[in-house]
Amino acid sequence: MDDIAVLGKKGYSLRNTLGEGSYSKVKCAYCDRLKCKVAVKIINKMKTPADFWERFLPREIEALRCLQHPSIIKTYEIFETSAGKVYIVMELGENGDLLDYIKITGAMREDFARMKFQQLASAIKHCHDSNFAHRDLKCENILLDGGLNIKLTDFGFSKLLSRDENGKMILSNTFCGSAAYAAPEVLQGIPCDPRISDIWSLGIILYIMVYALMPFDDSNIRKMIFFQKQHRIPFPSTQHLTVECKDLINHLLQPNVSQRLCTDEVLKHAWLQTPNSTVESPLSAPEEGECSHNPREGKPKQKHKAKSTDLIACFTKNSNRRHRTSAEVNK
Ligand SMILES: Nc1ncnc2c1ncn2[C@@H]1O[C@H](COP(=O)(O)OP(=O)(O)O)[C@@H](O)[C@H]1O
Ligand SMILES: [Mg+2]
Repeated sequence: MDDIAVLGKKGYSLRNTLGEGSYSKVKCAYCDRLKCKVAVKIINKMKTPADFWERFLPREIEALRCLQHPSIIKTYEIFETSAGKVYIVMELGENGDLLDYIKITGAMREDFARMKFQQLASAIKHCHDSNFAHRDLKCENILLDGGLNIKLTDFGFSKLLSRDENGKMILSNTFCGSAAYAAPEVLQGIPCDPRISDIWSLGIILYIMVYALMPFDDSNIRKMIFFQKQHRIPFPSTQHLTVECKDLINHLLQPNVSQRLCTDEVLKHAWLQTPNSTVESPLSAPEEGECSHNPREGKPKQKHKAKSTDLIACFTKNSNRRHRTSAEVNK
């Protein structure tokens, strides 16, 4: 039976493809029961390596079952067919993922970034408080719903933290995720609490939100680790950023794990305590002379004119090679 028939029997009519990962396809479908569109992640056993099927997929399913939070994607149903396919039916991220969004709209205004980052940080706090580390935090794994609210997804590399017989946390030294978002200790294979390494990735994501740039050049990993460990974070003058925002980035991209913030400290940071002015999203609030634009329709509007459009064009989905850094841009 093909996907259309399998899903049809369950009351879903299959629509367009939303995204493709290494071992899965994500499609949109209409759910007769819920009377709304949903997303279905389809994983085919024949096309996945054994360790993915035996180790990583069960962890993803466990995390999705355990983690319930307004900023974590909701799972409606998970089922497996005898033909070796798993279907994960979840809430639809109507505005796609954060990478696509930033590619279209450019760097976020700080007020808007603060609201989105607050949602993301509280989703991660929920994971960490529930003893899960995500281990693959990146813009492609952060979805936006119809109201541009953050919905964290893709728990394929997540890990439920375990303790030894003395109650001591068992540290992780497995490299997961994308090098561009990975903390120096992960890249060096140093055993650590993976929740602390999630915080580094959170720093990379915040940097991308406010600059539409990657902070480090990952075309040479050894060089990148050198810059990461120097704690040399480029803050391009092309974009004005408040001292508080830069301070938070500095504390998230802290190479010393014992000094890196935990989620509680992140949420209490001065930047997140700053009251927002009335903010509307760049997509829903066109500036004078601009036309508003939905990222899923038509041509993107240009928010920061030529220069940042150049930078934004450097983002490449699922590729770590072609991210250009602000350091290069400043040269
Ligand atoms: N619920 C969803 N709503 C909309 N798009 C989605 C949804 N889930 C995934 N996608 C899209 O599909 C891509 C791949 O999904 P993901 O779960 O990250 O799979 P993988 O584990 O293969 O990376 C995402 O980066 C996103 O663009
Ligand atoms: Mg993914």
